[in-house]
Amino acid sequence: MVGRLFRSSTREIPEVASVPQHIAVIMDGNGRWARKRLMPRVAGHSRGVEALRAVTRGCIERGVGYLTVFAFSSENWRRPPDEVSFLMQLFLKSLRREVKRLHENGIRFRVIGDLSRFDSQLVGVVREAEALTAANDRFHLTVAANYGGRWDLMNAMSRLIANNPGRDGDFSEDELAAELSMSFAPEPDLFIRTGGEKRISNFMLWQLAYTELYFTDTLWPDFDEAALDMAIDSYQGRERRFGRTSEQLKQSAAELQEPNA
Ligand code: IPE
Ligand code: IPE
Ligand code: MG
Repeated sequence: MVGRLFRSSTREIPEVASVPQHIAVIMDGNGRWARKRLMPRVAGHSRGVEALRAVTRGCIERGVGYLTVFAFSSENWRRPPDEVSFLMQLFLKSLRREVKRLHENGIRFRVIGDLSRFDSQLVGVVREAEALTAANDRFHLTVAANYGGRWDLMNAMSRLIANNPGRDGDFSEDELAAELSMSFAPEPDLFIRTGGEKRISNFMLWQLAYTELYFTDTLWPDFDEAALDMAIDSYQGRERRFGRTSEQLKQSAAELQEPNA
Protein backbone atom coordinates (compact mmCIF):
# COMPACT_ATOMS: atom_id res chain seq x y z
CA MET A 1 0.00 0.00 0.00
CA VAL A 2 1.39 3.36 -1.02
CA GLY A 3 1.07 6.15 1.51
CA ARG A 4 -0.95 8.64 -0.49
CA LEU A 5 -2.14 11.65 1.44
CA PHE A 6 -4.71 12.75 -1.06
CA ARG A 7 -7.62 11.10 -2.81
CA SER A 8 -7.43 10.23 -6.45
CA SER A 9 -10.43 11.87 -8.18
CA THR A 10 -11.02 8.81 -10.32
CA ARG A 11 -10.99 6.36 -7.41
CA GLU A 12 -12.74 8.30 -4.68
CA ILE A 13 -14.81 11.46 -4.72
CA PRO A 14 -12.61 14.15 -3.21
CA GLU A 15 -13.86 16.72 -0.74
CA VAL A 16 -14.63 19.98 -2.44
CA ALA A 17 -14.20 23.29 -0.61
CA SER A 18 -15.62 26.57 -1.83
CA VAL A 19 -12.13 28.03 -2.17
CA PRO A 20 -9.99 25.89 -4.48
CA GLN A 21 -7.29 24.20 -2.44
CA HIS A 22 -4.93 23.83 -5.36
CA ILE A 23 -4.69 26.18 -8.34
CA ALA A 24 -2.52 25.31 -11.35
CA VAL A 25 -1.64 28.07 -13.79
CA ILE A 26 -0.21 28.27 -17.28
CA MET A 27 1.25 31.77 -17.17
CA ASP A 28 0.95 32.60 -20.87
CA GLY A 29 1.01 35.81 -22.88
CA ASN A 30 4.19 37.50 -21.66
CA GLY A 31 5.60 37.94 -25.16
CA ARG A 32 2.39 39.44 -26.54
CA TRP A 33 2.09 41.74 -23.53
CA ALA A 34 5.52 43.19 -24.34
CA ARG A 35 4.94 43.29 -28.11
CA LYS A 36 1.77 45.33 -27.61
CA ARG A 37 3.97 47.91 -25.88
CA LEU A 38 6.66 47.75 -28.56
CA MET A 39 8.99 46.20 -26.03
CA PRO A 40 11.16 43.10 -26.51
CA ARG A 41 9.35 39.86 -25.61
CA VAL A 42 11.59 39.28 -22.64
CA ALA A 43 10.32 42.46 -20.96
CA GLY A 44 7.05 40.58 -20.64
CA HIS A 45 8.79 37.75 -18.78
CA SER A 46 10.21 40.23 -16.27
CA ARG A 47 6.74 41.66 -15.68
CA GLY A 48 5.44 38.13 -15.37
CA VAL A 49 7.51 37.65 -12.23
CA GLU A 50 5.70 40.60 -10.64
CA ALA A 51 2.36 39.04 -11.55
CA LEU A 52 3.44 35.78 -9.93
CA ARG A 53 4.31 37.59 -6.73
CA ALA A 54 0.87 39.27 -6.63
CA VAL A 55 -1.00 36.05 -7.42
CA THR A 56 0.94 34.13 -4.75
CA ARG A 57 -0.03 36.74 -2.17
CA GLY A 58 -3.62 36.72 -3.43
CA CYS A 59 -3.84 32.95 -3.13
CA ILE A 60 -2.53 32.97 0.43
CA GLU A 61 -4.99 35.69 1.46
CA ARG A 62 -7.88 33.75 -0.04
CA GLY A 63 -7.05 30.48 1.70
CA VAL A 64 -5.70 28.55 -1.26
CA GLY A 65 -3.11 26.02 -0.09
CA TYR A 66 -1.20 25.16 -3.26
CA LEU A 67 -0.22 27.18 -6.31
CA THR A 68 1.57 25.39 -9.13
CA VAL A 69 2.77 27.47 -12.07
CA PHE A 70 4.16 26.51 -15.45
CA ALA A 71 7.27 28.61 -16.01
CA PHE A 72 9.12 26.69 -18.72
CA SER A 73 7.93 23.67 -20.64
CA SER A 74 10.05 20.85 -21.98
CA GLU A 75 9.08 22.25 -25.40
CA ASN A 76 10.20 25.81 -24.64
CA TRP A 77 13.81 24.84 -25.54
CA ARG A 78 12.59 25.29 -29.11
CA ARG A 79 12.59 29.07 -28.57
CA PRO A 80 15.40 31.35 -29.75
CA PRO A 81 18.52 30.75 -27.63
CA ASP A 82 18.58 34.37 -26.43
CA GLU A 83 15.09 34.10 -25.01
CA VAL A 84 15.87 30.76 -23.34
CA SER A 85 18.98 32.14 -21.72
CA PHE A 86 17.13 35.29 -20.58
CA LEU A 87 14.50 33.07 -18.94
CA MET A 88 17.17 31.05 -17.13
CA GLN A 89 18.85 34.21 -15.86
CA LEU A 90 15.50 35.65 -14.79
CA PHE A 91 14.69 32.49 -12.88
CA LEU A 92 18.05 32.61 -11.10
CA LYS A 93 17.80 36.31 -10.30
CA SER A 94 14.18 36.16 -9.13
CA LEU A 95 14.73 33.14 -6.96
CA ARG A 96 17.76 34.71 -5.30
CA ARG A 97 15.78 37.87 -4.66
CA GLU A 98 12.62 36.18 -3.37
CA VAL A 99 13.80 33.17 -1.41
CA LYS A 100 14.07 34.93 1.93
CA ARG A 101 10.65 36.48 1.55
CA LEU A 102 9.14 33.13 0.59
CA HIS A 103 10.61 31.57 3.69
CA GLU A 104 9.53 34.40 6.01
CA ASN A 105 6.00 33.94 4.74
CA GLY A 106 5.94 30.26 5.58
CA ILE A 107 5.92 29.20 1.95
CA ARG A 108 7.26 25.85 0.93
CA PHE A 109 8.96 26.23 -2.42
CA ARG A 110 9.56 23.44 -4.90
CA VAL A 111 10.59 23.06 -8.49
CA ILE A 112 9.28 20.15 -10.54
CA GLY A 113 10.76 19.20 -13.89
CA ASP A 114 13.95 17.82 -15.33
CA LEU A 115 16.66 20.07 -13.91
CA SER A 116 19.47 18.06 -15.51
CA ARG A 117 19.56 20.47 -18.47
CA PHE A 118 19.88 23.54 -16.23
CA ASP A 119 23.24 25.02 -15.34
CA SER A 120 24.68 23.98 -12.03
CA GLN A 121 24.44 27.45 -10.51
CA LEU A 122 20.68 27.55 -11.06
CA VAL A 123 20.23 23.99 -9.81
CA GLY A 124 22.21 24.94 -6.69
CA VAL A 125 19.98 27.94 -5.95
CA VAL A 126 16.85 25.86 -6.51
CA ARG A 127 18.04 23.11 -4.17
CA GLU A 128 19.01 25.65 -1.51
CA ALA A 129 15.61 27.32 -1.70
CA GLU A 130 13.88 23.95 -1.44
CA ALA A 131 16.00 22.99 1.57
CA LEU A 132 15.50 26.33 3.31
CA THR A 133 11.70 26.13 2.99
CA ALA A 134 11.37 22.37 3.49
CA ALA A 135 9.70 22.63 6.90
CA ASN A 136 7.12 25.25 5.86
CA ASP A 137 3.56 24.22 5.25
CA ARG A 138 1.43 27.34 5.29
CA PHE A 139 1.43 27.50 1.52
CA HIS A 140 2.99 25.45 -1.26
CA LEU A 141 4.40 27.28 -4.26
CA THR A 142 5.62 24.97 -7.00
CA VAL A 143 7.30 26.09 -10.19
CA ALA A 144 7.29 23.72 -13.14
CA ALA A 145 10.52 24.22 -15.07
CA ASN A 146 11.62 22.05 -17.97
CA TYR A 147 8.51 20.15 -17.03
CA GLY A 148 6.24 18.15 -19.27
CA GLY A 149 3.28 16.01 -18.31
CA ARG A 150 4.49 13.17 -20.52
CA TRP A 151 7.99 13.38 -19.10
CA ASP A 152 6.49 13.10 -15.62
CA LEU A 153 4.38 10.07 -16.54
CA MET A 154 7.23 8.32 -18.33
CA ASN A 155 9.49 8.90 -15.33
CA ALA A 156 6.92 7.61 -12.90
CA MET A 157 6.36 4.47 -14.96
CA SER A 158 10.07 3.80 -15.27
CA ARG A 159 10.51 4.15 -11.52
CA LEU A 160 7.59 1.87 -10.77
CA ILE A 161 9.03 -0.83 -13.02
CA ALA A 162 12.58 -0.39 -11.69
CA ASN A 163 11.45 -0.49 -8.05
CA ASN A 164 9.28 -3.56 -8.49
CA PRO A 165 11.33 -6.23 -10.20
CA GLY A 166 9.28 -9.31 -10.88
CA ARG A 167 5.88 -7.56 -10.86
CA ASP A 168 4.10 -8.22 -14.13
CA GLY A 169 2.59 -4.78 -14.53
CA ASP A 170 -0.56 -4.90 -12.39
CA PHE A 171 0.17 -1.48 -10.94
CA SER A 172 -2.55 0.63 -9.35
CA GLU A 173 -3.39 4.26 -9.98
CA ASP A 174 -2.28 5.10 -6.47
CA GLU A 175 1.10 3.51 -7.04
CA LEU A 176 1.65 5.49 -10.21
CA ALA A 177 0.39 8.75 -8.68
CA ALA A 178 2.83 8.32 -5.80
CA GLU A 179 5.73 8.40 -8.28
CA LEU A 180 4.64 11.60 -10.02
CA SER A 181 6.37 14.85 -9.19
CA MET A 182 3.19 16.35 -7.69
CA SER A 183 2.53 13.42 -5.35
CA PHE A 184 2.81 15.78 -2.37
CA ALA A 185 -0.27 17.77 -3.38
CA PRO A 186 -3.98 17.17 -3.93
CA GLU A 187 -5.03 17.25 -7.58
CA PRO A 188 -5.70 20.82 -8.77
CA ASP A 189 -9.26 22.04 -8.24
CA LEU A 190 -8.84 24.93 -10.64
CA PHE A 191 -6.67 25.29 -13.73
CA ILE A 192 -6.13 28.78 -15.14
CA ARG A 193 -4.56 29.56 -18.48
CA THR A 194 -3.99 33.21 -19.32
CA GLY A 195 -3.19 34.57 -22.78
CA GLY A 196 -6.20 33.27 -24.67
CA GLU A 197 -5.03 29.85 -25.88
CA LYS A 198 -7.29 26.96 -25.03
CA ARG A 199 -4.92 24.09 -24.60
CA ILE A 200 -3.04 22.24 -21.88
CA SER A 201 0.41 22.36 -23.58
CA ASN A 202 1.62 19.18 -21.84
CA PHE A 203 1.03 20.47 -18.30
CA MET A 204 -0.01 18.10 -15.46
CA LEU A 205 -1.73 15.63 -17.77
CA TRP A 206 -2.51 13.07 -15.07
CA GLN A 207 -3.60 15.47 -12.36
CA LEU A 208 -6.00 17.55 -14.47
CA ALA A 209 -8.39 14.61 -14.90
CA TYR A 210 -11.23 16.31 -12.95
CA THR A 211 -9.88 19.84 -12.60
CA GLU A 212 -12.16 22.75 -13.50
CA LEU A 213 -10.63 24.55 -16.48
CA TYR A 214 -10.64 28.34 -16.79
CA PHE A 215 -9.30 30.21 -19.79
CA THR A 216 -8.91 33.96 -19.95
CA ASP A 217 -7.68 36.35 -22.64
CA THR A 218 -5.92 38.42 -19.97
CA LEU A 219 -2.19 38.29 -20.61
CA TRP A 220 -0.17 36.95 -17.68
CA PRO A 221 1.58 40.25 -16.75
CA ASP A 222 -1.89 41.84 -16.43
CA PHE A 223 -3.29 39.01 -14.30
CA ASP A 224 -3.88 40.56 -10.87
CA GLU A 225 -5.94 39.88 -7.75
CA ALA A 226 -9.13 41.05 -9.45
CA ALA A 227 -8.47 38.59 -12.26
CA LEU A 228 -7.81 35.86 -9.70
CA ASP A 229 -11.15 36.63 -8.07
CA MET A 230 -12.89 36.29 -11.43
CA ALA A 231 -11.34 32.87 -11.89
CA ILE A 232 -12.34 31.78 -8.38
CA ASP A 233 -15.87 33.16 -8.95
CA SER A 234 -16.14 31.09 -12.10
CA TYR A 235 -14.94 28.04 -10.15
CA GLN A 236 -17.52 28.63 -7.44
CA GLY A 237 -20.27 28.58 -10.04
CA ARG A 238 -19.32 25.10 -11.29
CA GLU A 239 -20.95 21.85 -10.27
CA ARG A 240 -18.23 19.27 -9.68
CA ARG A 241 -19.97 16.00 -10.29
CA PHE A 242 -17.07 13.55 -10.66
CA GLY A 243 -19.25 11.32 -12.78
CA ARG A 244 -22.44 11.57 -10.71
CA THR A 245 -25.70 13.23 -11.69
CA SER A 246 -26.76 16.67 -10.57
CA GLU A 247 -29.70 15.09 -8.69
CA GLN A 248 -27.35 12.89 -6.69
CA LEU A 249 -25.35 15.94 -5.64
CA LYS A 250 -28.46 17.79 -4.48
CA GLN A 251 -29.65 14.73 -2.60
CA SER A 252 -26.40 14.34 -0.68
CA ALA A 253 -26.34 18.07 0.14
CA ALA A 254 -29.89 17.77 1.52
CA GLU A 255 -28.94 14.71 3.57
CA LEU A 256 -26.02 16.60 5.04
CA GLN A 257 -28.37 19.34 6.16
CA GLU A 258 -30.88 16.90 7.68
CA PRO A 259 -28.88 13.89 8.82
CA ASN A 260 -31.89 12.18 10.45
CA ALA A 261 -34.39 12.75 7.68
C1 IPE B 1 4.64 32.49 -21.33
O1 IPE B 1 4.58 33.59 -22.16
C2 IPE B 1 5.98 32.34 -20.67
C3 IPE B 1 6.78 31.21 -21.16
C4 IPE B 1 6.37 30.30 -21.99
C5 IPE B 1 8.12 31.12 -20.66
P1 IPE B 1 4.96 33.47 -23.68
O2 IPE B 1 6.41 33.79 -23.82
O3 IPE B 1 4.54 32.18 -24.23
O4 IPE B 1 4.11 34.65 -24.30
P2 IPE B 1 3.33 34.61 -25.67
O5 IPE B 1 2.41 33.44 -25.65
O6 IPE B 1 4.35 34.50 -26.76
O7 IPE B 1 2.59 35.92 -25.69
C1 IPE C 1 3.08 27.03 -22.12
O1 IPE C 1 3.14 28.24 -22.82
C2 IPE C 1 4.23 26.90 -21.19
C3 IPE C 1 4.43 27.98 -20.23
C4 IPE C 1 3.62 28.96 -19.93
C5 IPE C 1 5.65 27.87 -19.52
P1 IPE C 1 3.60 28.27 -24.34
O2 IPE C 1 3.36 29.66 -24.82
O3 IPE C 1 4.96 27.73 -24.49
O4 IPE C 1 2.57 27.25 -25.00
P2 IPE C 1 2.20 26.98 -26.52
O5 IPE C 1 3.48 26.71 -27.24
O6 IPE C 1 1.55 28.22 -27.05
O7 IPE C 1 1.27 25.82 -26.47
MG1 MG D 1 2.87 31.50 -25.14
